[in-house]
Amino acid sequence: MRIACTVNGHTRVAENVWAGESLLYVLRERFGLYGSKNACEQGECGSCSVYLDGSLVCACLVLGGQANGREVVTVEGVDAAGVQQAFVDAGAVQCGFCTPGLIVATHDLLRRVPQPSDAQIREALAGNVCRCTGYAKIIEAVNMAAR
Ligand code: FES
Ligand code: FES
Repeated sequence: MRIACTVNGHTRVAENVWAGESLLYVLRERFGLYGSKNACEQGECGSCSVYLDGSLVCACLVLGGQANGREVVTVEGVDAAGVQQAFVDAGAVQCGFCTPGLIVATHDLLRRVPQPSDAQIREALAGNVCRCTGYAKIIEAVNMAAR
């Protein structure tokens, strides 16, 4: 199938998309947007988090065909420089594999709840798995970004 969607403000077209192909595959392998990571490919880790029509989704759980005619924003296109800097300043990045998903999920949290409590941060990021940091630095980074 052919899909046409808006990705980070630009129209993107993919031809010969297999019906079972994920949006994550389309973004990475067809559009060359490697920021969204493929870690579990089953909706468990959040490393592939993107916006689809403004809603936070795991791109690995969305079919590429479902993005047809819709708007996708990836970590490359999200306006989250302050969040990224907070993650760096707080030391919340180690291997970095989880970081793109956390940046998008944090951006989503802070636009909904500008001053979240630690409990709200933990709840909002519960779907984002990090194998390195132990999460304390991530919580700190989100608090820094909120400030
Ligand atoms: S790769 Fe999508 S949730 Fe893990
Ligand atoms: S920094 Fe390595 S998985 Fe989070």
